[in-house]
Formats: sequence, C-alpha cells, structure tokens
Amino acid sequence: MTIQMESRFIYLMSCKIKFLVLFISLLAIIPSIRAQQIDLIANTDGRKSISLDGQWRTIVDPYEAGYYDYRYQPSANGYFKDAKPKTKSDLIEYDFDTSESLTVPGDWNTQRERLLLYEGTIWYKKSFDYQRTDHTRIFVYFGAANYIADVYLNGEKIGRHEGGFTPFNFEITKLVRDKSNSLIVKVDNHRRRDAVPTLITDWWNYGGLTRQVKLVETPATFVQDYFIQLRKGSRNQIKGWVRLNGGRLNQKVTVRIPEAGISKSFTAEANGYVEIGFNADLTLWSPNNPRLYDVLIEAETDRVQDKIGFRSIETRGTEILLNGQPIFLRGVCLHEEAPFRGGRAYSREDALTLLNWAKELGANFVRLAHYPHNEFMVREADRLGIMVWSEIPVYWTILWENPATLDNARTQLSEMITRDKNRAAVIVWSMANETPLGDARLSFLKKLIEHARSMDTSRLISAAMERHYIDTEEKTQMIDDPLGEYLDVLGCNEYVGWYDGLPEKTDRMEWKTKYQKPLIMSEFGAEAPYGNHGDSLTRWTEEYQENFYQHQVNMLKRISFLRGTSPWILMDFRSPRRPLPGIQDFYNRKGLISDRGEKKKAFYVMQKYYQELRESFEK
Ligand code: GCU
Repeated sequence: MTIQMESRFIYLMSCKIKFLVLFISLLAIIPSIRAQQIDLIANTDGRKSISLDGQWRTIVDPYEAGYYDYRYQPSANGYFKDAKPKTKSDLIEYDFDTSESLTVPGDWNTQRERLLLYEGTIWYKKSFDYQRTDHTRIFVYFGAANYIADVYLNGEKIGRHEGGFTPFNFEITKLVRDKSNSLIVKVDNHRRRDAVPTLITDWWNYGGLTRQVKLVETPATFVQDYFIQLRKGSRNQIKGWVRLNGGRLNQKVTVRIPEAGISKSFTAEANGYVEIGFNADLTLWSPNNPRLYDVLIEAETDRVQDKIGFRSIETRGTEILLNGQPIFLRGVCLHEEAPFRGGRAYSREDALTLLNWAKELGANFVRLAHYPHNEFMVREADRLGIMVWSEIPVYWTILWENPATLDNARTQLSEMITRDKNRAAVIVWSMANETPLGDARLSFLKKLIEHARSMDTSRLISAAMERHYIDTEEKTQMIDDPLGEYLDVLGCNEYVGWYDGLPEKTDRMEWKTKYQKPLIMSEFGAEAPYGNHGDSLTRWTEEYQENFYQHQVNMLKRISFLRGTSPWILMDFRSPRRPLPGIQDFYNRKGLISDRGEKKKAFYVMQKYYQELRESFEK
C-alpha cells in the first residue's frame, strides 16, 4: 500500500469515526427531546398553573449569531446558554439581563416601531423560581409562537415547535430547579417556501410569543387529554375517550356531569387510554341557548374540570342540521387582529370585542381565518352561542409534493383539533383556503381530511374553494372543484363586483354545483376606508362597498343550496400586500368595521339581511 493510499485510508477512517460520533450523539439527543415533548395537555385553564406572561428580556438576532457559529454550524455555546462573564477577562458578547424587554403575550412587530417589518429571530428569556411539590410533574405550555420556537431551560434544549397558531408543551420536571431558572426561546418568523403557510399571505407575519406562556403542574399520573361530545347524529349518546399519562395508567376513571346527575366510571387500559360512552338527557347547546355543563374527569390520581356544551351538527342533502333542525349560518370572517391597538389579538377582551361586533351584525357564526385563533376566541364563542369555522393555514399555493410540508400541515391540524375538540361552538374544521386545482393538491388535502375524520367524526369538514364560469357571458358560476367530493360542506370565495367586474354583475348571476351539499359563501367583500365617501361606483368609498353588498345580498338570496355566508371581513386588518397610500396604508380595508371600531355603511346592509334571515329561519 503506497504512502498516498495509506494517508487516504486514514483520512477516510477519520471521517467515518467523526460521522459515527455525530450519529451516536444525535441518537442520544432525540430520545430525550421526545421523552420531554409529550402530546398536548388539554384544558390547561383547568389545571394548577403559573403564568409566565409579562416582560421578557429579548435579543433581536437577524443573523442568528446566537445559534450559528461563523461557519454557519449550530454553536454549542449559543445564547441559550445565557452565559455570564465569570472573570473580568471573560468574553461574552450578549447579556439578556441588560437587554430590552418585550411583552408576552404579544407580537414584536407592534411593540417597537423598528420591528414592524422585522422577520427573523428574536431570543426571549424569562427567569423564574419554582417551589415544586413532591410527586408532581412540570410542563411549560405555549399558547402559540410564530413561527418556529426552539425552547431551552437552564441551557438544555427541551424542544422545538413549528407552526405559528397552535399550542405546544414540553415536560421540564427533570430540568427545573428551585431558584432562577432560565427559560429561553428562540422565535423565528422567517417565511419559507416549504412552510405552512408559505411565502405569500394577505395578513401580517406577526412574530413572537403571541399567546400565553405558563407552567403547568400535574400529578405523576394525570389526565392528559379527553374527548367528551355527542356521538355523530345523536342527541343523547355521549361518546369519547380519556387518556392518562404517567406511571400508573390502568386507573379507574369517572366522568361526572353533576347538573345532569351523571356519574359514569370506566377502567383505563394499560396504556392509559379508555373509551367512554353513555346516554345522557341534556339541554343541547345552540346559539339561542348556549348551555355549557360543568364536566369533571376524575382519575385516582388527578381531576380536571371543564365547561362543555353538547350539540349535534350534521348535513342532510343541502341542509345543515343543528340538533336535527335546519339552520342558516349567518356569519362573518375575522382575522386574529386586535381591535383598536392592532397587532395579534390574544386576550379574552380582544375576543369579546370582536365576537360582540359579530353579534351586533346579527351573526350566529364566525369563520376564524386562516389559522386557529387563540383559545379565548373559541371558549367565548362557546359561552356566547356563536358557531365557529376553524381553519389551518393551508393557504393559496403551498408545496403539495413535499412530505415535510404535509407532515407540518397534519401536525397543525392535530393540534387544532386536540385543543378545541370539546368546544360545542366549533362545528366546522376547514382544511384549506383558495388552493389551486391539481392532483398533488387534491391528494394532499384528501390526506388531511382523512386525518381530521380519524380524530373527530362529530364535526363537519370543509374548505374555502374557488369557482369558475361555465359560460362566456359570465352569467353562470360553477362549484365543481374535485375537492368538493370529500367535504361535508362546500366553502366558496367569490369577489364578483370587486376583483371581478362591478357590483351589478351579480344581478344576472346564477350559481350551480355538481354536489348535493350545502354551500357556505365563505368570502365576498369590497374595500373602503371608514369615512371615505363618494358615489356608489367610486372604488374605495363606503358607498361603493355598500352598493357591492346590496347586489351581493340579492344574488345570495337566489342560491337554492346556500346555507351560510361569511363576508370578508368583520374588521380591517394589517396586510403587507396593501400599500395604497391614504387608502390602505398596509391595511386590507374590506372590514365592515374599521380597525378603530367604526361601522361602515355596508355593515348595516349585512345586518338587515341577517335580521331577515333570522326571522325567516327561526319563525
Ligand atoms: C382572498 C383571501 C383572503 C384575502 C382576500 C382579499 O380571497 O382568502 O385572505 O384577504 O381574498 O383579497 O381581501
């Protein structure tokens, strides 16, 4: 063997050894993260918890200097180490504790002028002490973080979450200490082509820890999750399950509904899972009577209380039936934009303001676009009797053929359903919005629908589709997207009179579909900043918007299979795609109400239509 061959052999051997070491260390890390990252804990409001909301120290890191070294390799000594100089000669080039703070929950864009357009990484640090109780476990729970969150405790990586609108939690029992815990989160809201949503959206890419953060304490074996709703199509049979997590799993589990005199016991299997089923004579939840019951889920070592309503929702031909009765969904779309102050909405007050405006409009239904909104929104809708369409951000043109994109969308779908499956108000799971026809897209969405049905058979599945003309005169619209085959309810977005012609174009419009299914007109709208006036054909005026809605309403009344409407949109919202000076100024002005709560003329056109519908449908 020549010298050259010998040195080449040694070089290859060293590469192999390096790779082997790397692979083993990776193998070592993965189980520990998975061990710490458990499935979502349901109903954290019903558990012992400590809020970590408030001021968090932050480091804005556009070049991810806190994560990568100068060779763009993940650094072992990143900002997550929260290092401090030990001697006067020590070199540490960051310091959370003298850095600026941001409020959590809250997007960073509306907290500092210079961060309005910022897309990138910001590091968040929260220190906390923790007095642990024996035989308990500790989890850190995030309501949401946009878009990717890498989470560290006391310098250790505890997990990563992708997706800006769904909750996640990690177990920290083994890592938490009594004094000065350092919880650090790297939040990155970079838009990516393979992400969900992808690069282009008509909403602002608000970044940060946008919802509540809390510590949740549970017994060693606890009630991790449960599904307690009426069986599909039934009005008196409860069907569901309870799942325990911990060391002692095959415990006795009891479900109690004290106000209905119900107490049913079951025994969990060795894996902690137990199916539950029993008859119950309950007052059914409806918009006119949003009855919620106190429901107690008790195991031998844990007890969780929740407020749950019971109703059945199904379709029959082109009818949507709530508790067996045909209904019309008088709805409106809304973004999770905070009224008055702007930015990502996150509080109960934000939810109440928006939902009460919807009620003023005469709505009994809201389409939460285009991503799962915060939990306050769905719980207040439950309490107020407003039915909900909840959607994952499979929006416009994502990478249909990318398996990682499908996994990501499926995970967001799982998290959305897991969090809200016990909310009677949520009647529709929506898989997508305005996605282009094509085989890859159809198979992608079919997989999501299958997944949703495997998790929840009690609700309706839909998606906001597009339509097309079937005649050159453009008088007849057809809804025949192949996706419709797999949906329970058809959703369709149309802008006839705004993006497509002038308002009177609707006057000759006829609507057809190849499906014998109910239709929700999931979007229609026109733009006008509040207070901008002119004649009814002058774009951007309240009169044009009003005219648009008058023509729309007349057209909608002629669609025989229409069973719901959700105009675009309740309130003006920030969008990076809307630069028109003096009119839009980076706001989409299709709101029926301005972002300052001012009602536009069009608001009253819809209010009057909903009054009529209410009278005709509920007489
Ligand atoms: C689209 C889309 C919305 C968008 C709206 C608009 O249909 O679904 O996200 O904001 O139309 O153009 O205003």
